[in-house]
Amino acid sequence: MLPNDAFSARIGAMRQSLIRKVFDCKKSTSINLGLGQPSESVPLQIIDEGMRRLKQGDMGYTANAGMLTLRDKIARSHHLPFAGSAENVVVTCGAQEAIVAAMAACLDVGDEVIVADPSFPGYAMAAEFLGAQVVTAQRFESEDFRLNTGALAGKISSRTRLVVLNSPGNPTGKCDTEAELQALAELADKHNFFILCDEIYADILYTQSEMPSATQFSKRAILVSGLSKNVAMTGFRLGYLIAPDPLALALTRAHAVLTSCAPTLSQHMAGYVFENPQLRKVHLPLYAERRQNAINALRTHLPHTPHTMPDGAFYILLNCARFTNNSLDFALQILEQTDVLTTPGLAFGESTRQWLRLSFAGTPENFTTGVERLAPFFKIRATD
Ligand SMILES: Cc1ncc(COP(=O)(O)O)c(C=O)c1O
Repeated sequence: MLPNDAFSARIGAMRQSLIRKVFDCKKSTSINLGLGQPSESVPLQIIDEGMRRLKQGDMGYTANAGMLTLRDKIARSHHLPFAGSAENVVVTCGAQEAIVAAMAACLDVGDEVIVADPSFPGYAMAAEFLGAQVVTAQRFESEDFRLNTGALAGKISSRTRLVVLNSPGNPTGKCDTEAELQALAELADKHNFFILCDEIYADILYTQSEMPSATQFSKRAILVSGLSKNVAMTGFRLGYLIAPDPLALALTRAHAVLTSCAPTLSQHMAGYVFENPQLRKVHLPLYAERRQNAINALRTHLPHTPHTMPDGAFYILLNCARFTNNSLDFALQILEQTDVLTTPGLAFGESTRQWLRLSFAGTPENFTTGVERLAPFFKIRATD
């Protein structure tokens, strides 16, 4: 075994993902409510197009920023007011690489990036990896975990270079409001910071057909999205960034260092998806059914445990304050005693220390069985 100091200080200082910590204890028999990926396969037409392209053999490197035809289709499908053409688009290896590339293009060592608490842990990990300082802005349950620009303003300093948004959010499932996003766009101009808008779940909306985005209001907004969640192409690693000039050029330079270009086969398949835009919503009816099933199962089996009602994405937060003050220990106990895998809220920040995240991306039967097993476990632990 190599000693820890054999590696760079940067890697040595990185925290272990709490999601991984629980996931690594999972057995093959475990009911998986931790899943961040759809159980559905990629729609067959997209696979057929991939096979056709593979047989044609055009699989060499593409331009760093991605194929021009694909970037053009992506730009047209989003028609952002400040970033409307192919030159504004960079195709990446999944949304995660898009996040790292965007941070690398915006942040110097010691710069501050504001992330929501709770939020997807990939933001803090990427920022720390790049030597930036993570500043958290709490989201409140009483405000449905939505952006409160007034509260966030108190976190801005002369070193703030980036604010990260995620709507609909992982783990909250909530969308931010137009008024708050407009207020944030004004702050970005006043204090010279960029806004990273992670909208990877934007095609999975239940309570509204569209959602507001800071990219509509700000020349400082960078859009992150991809095909991992809407068409279940997680393993094809297809994400993208859209940003105004000259930011798009800076993003391309960062992306070129990280991965040269996104996988060519995946880019061809993505071209087909953007030519057939209805495909991006192909799984939505199924997710809507699964969301309803999840809500029904929780109402039936855990009627006294409060939970969120997601506007989008495929996660529900369960308030376990009656049972625990440490969702990591709690999730590990649940796994050991009921063989159900859940995600500790602590993985997303202190605000959700007493919460668990349940995913309904798997089958309805899977979700219901999981919740049925949680019910007796919760019952004997209730303190009131
Ligand atoms: C909010 C959010 N952003 C980005 C990602 C990463 O997506 P990808 O698999 O396309 O890298 C995820 C994955 O779970 C996510 O939940």
